[in-house]
Amino acid sequence: MKKYYLCGNQKTMFDYMENWRDYKKVLLPDIPGLHDIDVYVKNGGYESLREVLTSGKWDTKKVIDEVKAANIRGRGGAGFNAGLKWSFMPPKKPGVPRYLACNGDESEPGTCKDRRIFEYNPHLFIEGAIIACYAMEMDAAYVYIRGEYADWIDMLQVAVDQAYQKGFVGENILGSGKTIHLYVHKGAGAYICGEETSLMESLEGKRPYPRSKPPFPAQYGLWGKPTTINNIETLAHVPLVIKNGAKWWSGIGAATHPGPFLYGISGHVNRPGVYEYPSGMLLSDLIYKVAGGIRGGKKLKAVVPGGSSVPILRADQIEGITMDADSLRTVGTFVGTAGICVLDEDTDIIKFLLRISKFYSHESCGQCTPCREGTGWFVKVLKRIDAGLGEMKDLDLLLDLCDTMEGRTVCALADAAAWPVRNTIIRFRDEFEKKIKRSGVLIS
Ligand SMILES: Cc1cc2nc3c(=O)[nH]c(=O)nc-3n(C[C@H](O)[C@H](O)[C@H](O)COP(=O)(O)O)c2cc1C
Ligand code: SF4
Repeated sequence: MKKYYLCGNQKTMFDYMENWRDYKKVLLPDIPGLHDIDVYVKNGGYESLREVLTSGKWDTKKVIDEVKAANIRGRGGAGFNAGLKWSFMPPKKPGVPRYLACNGDESEPGTCKDRRIFEYNPHLFIEGAIIACYAMEMDAAYVYIRGEYADWIDMLQVAVDQAYQKGFVGENILGSGKTIHLYVHKGAGAYICGEETSLMESLEGKRPYPRSKPPFPAQYGLWGKPTTINNIETLAHVPLVIKNGAKWWSGIGAATHPGPFLYGISGHVNRPGVYEYPSGMLLSDLIYKVAGGIRGGKKLKAVVPGGSSVPILRADQIEGITMDADSLRTVGTFVGTAGICVLDEDTDIIKFLLRISKFYSHESCGQCTPCREGTGWFVKVLKRIDAGLGEMKDLDLLLDLCDTMEGRTVCALADAAAWPVRNTIIRFRDEFEKKIKRSGVLIS
């Protein structure tokens, strides 16, 4: 049986199966009015920043080492150790500015967790971003938020203005002599702008075509200057690590993929929403206990555990599977953004895949031929199958298309489009064949 530490009561090792309900929220705690800076400060807010900038105990390397030791695995999808990424920044050169790009594009279907941070605890993120800038010796942070989040952009801007007024952002922060600015930038509404190099192109005012790597952003980022890109939630964890220590933070949840998680649960459940719990929760507990089970008492058919691009799971694959990279790898899928999409027994899996494929086809920037053409062909062939005009060889055609796309393009959107197609065909082949055979009967 796995053992987990209970957040907020670190002396007690506890049995997850019995005690996960006792988890005490730290990212989105139930404190009324926490979005306001006075309430945030009253509850210990900005103490981590004060400690780092004014105690004299934290040089930049120490901050990076602590974040690295915590093993905050990036919450934007790829799960890369944030502190390790920070350590890739080259040594500071006098007169050369450096930037942090905070990724709040949040366009992956099934994902709406960063929005909760903007709404309920924006100062935790701002504090994390400024600590990150200090650690990487940066001059400014740019927060890129999808344009559709108009209300949340306003909410964050209010918080940023408050932080400037109180001296937590801007010139000579807390009398430390450090100057770090933070700007909120409204995106123009394209999924591709969430890809880190595309985000930088968009911030620079250009068409958001992803850049080829290398050079990587740490070498050649925003305006050609050293840059690091982090997800909003990733940065919101940073003050918690500084305040409580890497050991405390990494003691929460699954050992190799630790920390609090914001699980976004959507689809055919009774209580969809964003829920904060430790990483490593049983997928079945999240669906049945946290989100109240399947609507209308129906049976579960499938789960997409980490945003629309990660491989789908059949209901019979989720038993004993926990939300962390190691466990999900055993069934061939990923944590992604921890946006869990639940499908009931009545779901037409071909229509579901067609809907996802239309999204990726619409959002392909068109720069690479395999992605531009492949995503379009997915839609054409799936429409044909869905309309009852499919043939068995269409399944091979779809899988061939996946082969031409995966790992062969400038950015990972092509993979994000191909994985659902490949895995849905493999895992629900019987449903495709049934529909195709039925169409054969109708035609003959
Ligand atoms: C097509 C595409 C869209 C993406 N959209 C987002 C997004 O909306 N938000 C995000 O944080 N990361 C997104 N990413 C991942 C980013 O490129 C990048 O890995 C991430 O922001 C790094 O932050 P992290 O290390 O803190 O997770 C996307 C990647 C791809 C390929
Ligand atoms: S993979 Fe697709 S979205 Fe990414 S750069 Fe190529 S065409 Fe654009």
